Amino acid sequence: MKLFLTGITGYLGGYIADRALAGGAQVTALVRAPDAARARARLWRALELHRSAEELAELFAAGRLRAVLGDITRPRLGLSPALYERVVAEHDAVVHAAASLNRRSPRACFEVNLRGGLELLQLVRRIHARGGLRRFVHVSTTAVAGRLRGAVVREDEAVAWDRSDFDPYGRTKKFAEHLVRELLPDAPAIVVRPSTVLGDSRFPETTQFDMVRAFVGLARLPVLPFPPEARQDIVPADFVADAIAALLRAEAPAHRIYHLSAGTASPSFRQITDRLARDLGRRRPLYLPRAGRSCARAVSLLAGVRTSPLRRVRAGAALMDAFWPYLEWDVVFDNARIVAETGLRPASFLDTCAPLYWFAVEGGFRYPHRALPAALVQVPVLYADEAALAAAEASR
Ligand SMILES: NC(=O)c1ccc[n+]([C@@H]2O[C@H](COP(=O)([O-])OP(=O)(O)OC[C@H]3O[C@@H](n4cnc5c(N)ncnc54)[C@H](OP(=O)(O)O)[C@@H]3O)[C@@H](O)[C@H]2O)c1
Repeated sequence: MKLFLTGITGYLGGYIADRALAGGAQVTALVRAPDAARARARLWRALELHRSAEELAELFAAGRLRAVLGDITRPRLGLSPALYERVVAEHDAVVHAAASLNRRSPRACFEVNLRGGLELLQLVRRIHARGGLRRFVHVSTTAVAGRLRGAVVREDEAVAWDRSDFDPYGRTKKFAEHLVRELLPDAPAIVVRPSTVLGDSRFPETTQFDMVRAFVGLARLPVLPFPPEARQDIVPADFVADAIAALLRAEAPAHRIYHLSAGTASPSFRQITDRLARDLGRRRPLYLPRAGRSCARAVSLLAGVRTSPLRRVRAGAALMDAFWPYLEWDVVFDNARIVAETGLRPASFLDTCAPLYWFAVEGGFRYPHRALPAALVQVPVLYADEAALAAAEASR
């Protein structure tokens, strides 16, 4: 399989590349970088959680992993006409994981998730038009379901146009799914919707700390303004990547949409705090769900504060403000389709929460990234030599 992947420098993108490579795919990754050296450094940072420098050097040297410098919001993804045609001609699978998750910026979400998403779909349409598309996986999110309470949501029930959205992220991701349906009606295209992705079931390390900060902040509170029985649909990143790799390989997937979620096995707030109390040796928090509404309002107000002495408070409040509905509303996403079709089941957050907590707290919410190893300094990383392509184009 020759896979074209967007979003490799993001949290899930590194996982998806790693699993696709493990399954034997050849991966071309769209990377926002000005040159090969910066792309090499970015790929190392994206993949050092998964691979040793020597393994990566081998993959680069064998042409199994390559970067193409571009940006999904630019025409033809920022590629020259010749390079774009080469990408169309040489790939039979696409995974689109690039996105803006900036819930507070409608502009960023619109630009990347819609305008950029449309540009990417044009590429997929071209590959499909030449009869070469084996599979397209569009990475969406369960946030497309918007404002619901107390529900187990199945794949075909998640999108309702008359339901309010959480935020610009959910809204633009919902519309991006609509574009996939409308523009690729007869293509082998799949939409996957991960729920909240936190940690890894195999080890405590993570390179993504936004949601981990929110989780640790909540875990430290003596009083929680949420219903203790509200379930939290959280999955580890390795499950999401394994499921996407399985769907890429599948001969004939039975569905066009899959929830990559914990579903009805999702633990409640109380179960999570009981486990943390046990594993971290702490007191259990007190639950005051009636305080939820006033706390939500206070958090929302603080998130909008502009004065600089409150910058840190504001950052924390903005994070909480974005995640509040997920915490309070007791909504989980049925995962029967992916479990039945792949046999994969996400590890429970109950088993991963304490190791993740310790890793984040002890490391000061930082992954100990290492400088680019010597083994990678000289290896070729670019999918195509832009200069050679330009010369070939000029001589036509
Ligand atoms: N993380 C979660 O809990 C979660 C849950 C459900 C669904 N998802 C979905 O999973 C996907 C990946 O999420 P993530 O957590 O990995 O996000 P992330 O860490 O924020 O990564 C986003 C990726 O998108 C790339 N990107 C952004 N704008 C781009 C542009 N204009 N051109 C090319 N690339 C661009 C980023 O590149 P740069 O590094 O250059 O910025 C980065 O590689 C998204 O579609 C998201 O909606 C995530």
